[in-house]
Amino acid sequence: MTVTIVGAQLGDEGKGGIVDVYGDAADVVVRYQGGDNAGHTVVHEGAEYKLSLVPSGAVRGTVGVLGNGCVVNPETLFDELDALGERGLDPDVRVAERAHVIFPYHRALDGIEEEAKSETDSEIGTTGRGIGPTYEDKAARRGIRVGDLLAPDVLRSKLERVVPPKRAVVEDVYGLAVDDLDDSAAFDVGTLYETYRDFGRRFAEADMVVNAGQFVTDALEAGRNVMFEGAQGTLIDIDHGNFPYVTSSNPTAGGAAVGAGVSPSVVGDGEIIGIVKGYLSRVGSGPMPTELGGVVGDTPGYDEQGEGGDEELATYIREEGGEYGTVTGRPRRVGWLDVPMLRHAARVSGFTGLAVNHLDVLAGLDEVRVGHSYTLDGEELFTMPATTERWAKCEANYRSFDGWVPFDSETVASEGYAALPENARAYLEYLSDELDTPVYCVGVGPGREQTVIREEVWE
Ligand code: IMP
Repeated sequence: MTVTIVGAQLGDEGKGGIVDVYGDAADVVVRYQGGDNAGHTVVHEGAEYKLSLVPSGAVRGTVGVLGNGCVVNPETLFDELDALGERGLDPDVRVAERAHVIFPYHRALDGIEEEAKSETDSEIGTTGRGIGPTYEDKAARRGIRVGDLLAPDVLRSKLERVVPPKRAVVEDVYGLAVDDLDDSAAFDVGTLYETYRDFGRRFAEADMVVNAGQFVTDALEAGRNVMFEGAQGTLIDIDHGNFPYVTSSNPTAGGAAVGAGVSPSVVGDGEIIGIVKGYLSRVGSGPMPTELGGVVGDTPGYDEQGEGGDEELATYIREEGGEYGTVTGRPRRVGWLDVPMLRHAARVSGFTGLAVNHLDVLAGLDEVRVGHSYTLDGEELFTMPATTERWAKCEANYRSFDGWVPFDSETVASEGYAALPENARAYLEYLSDELDTPVYCVGVGPGREQTVIREEVWE
């Protein structure tokens, strides 16, 4: 059977922890979109592993697959595999022949394009990993795929076709001299050919490249459990997210079928778990109707740190939840749960269950609120408008819940759902009713032993 994991908000919902909890019983974990823009920390037998491309389960001995919907930077992949190797692990990772390759020129262009957009304050705030430019090449039918790295002649001729126009974009569109760039070798066909042919040899020697859809189908037919691990979240989905502040792939459940190379019925016959953080956080700019306080530089129209109740509450939640960027240390914007956003996410992906994380963070507050609906142009809306501009005009209508007292996470996790404070259960039950989806598990702390499991998902 299959279990699909999908972020229901803006990323950073704590998907890694849930993949950890439910991934134990999986034989194969497949990433179906994105690339090394995702970041997850896995703690295994007391050791911490930071990964961005290797599927998290691979550390525990589960077979990891990067599906055709992924974009693969071989340099990152081999660095991560080497680092795991130095720590005594030998993960079994397979890569789809059909997955597109991120080349150094994609990364360079990601940076150059963002820099140019920043002149008009229209940058997306990408991770700079070349994700967008690689998916652009895929859609434009000029991308180079993992399978091409194993055929040196094909690789060479494709590079000869693809690279000169990239140089021209840098020079003629952005007015930069390629030879003056720090990474000018990113645009040199000879260097690229040799480096990526060597990556291709390594892929072949390690027998890592597979027809991923067939590989996954064979595993399912042999009775194996397969987990589809989405990266990012619904609101960063290129079709269903807050365009253009999105990544260039489909983290929503439909992406699992296309990006893993299986039928939609394979995904639909299994479980689809929506991961929800008990409140909301957002990195960078863009609308956030349920925001508390604000972050200077990110919250639109917010130039100065405010004072008072909302600001204090925002700081409290930010501190308790550790809502700071892992790499930059930048404070994340925080707010109450946005239920119209979650109704949208549940509809798009068809969640069969919810995993609600970070409930411990809200413990100790007198009152917990949720944005239940929006008002837009005098009308009450229960789901998100499709355009970011209209979403920015939405005002949240709140529902209030009595807060719950702090509790010992491990005791509650071991005793089960009924041991959660009554008010916390009322909050979860509201959510479950609104989304018409049962709560499968509740995260009450960072460790996997701090998860209240109500439903074992594998049959
Ligand atoms: P890109 O994926 O690097 O092109 O970035 C596009 C947008 O997606 C930016 O707003 C990023 O901050 C966001 N993004 C990409 N990956 C993640 C993630 O793993 N978590 C949260 N946001 C992400």
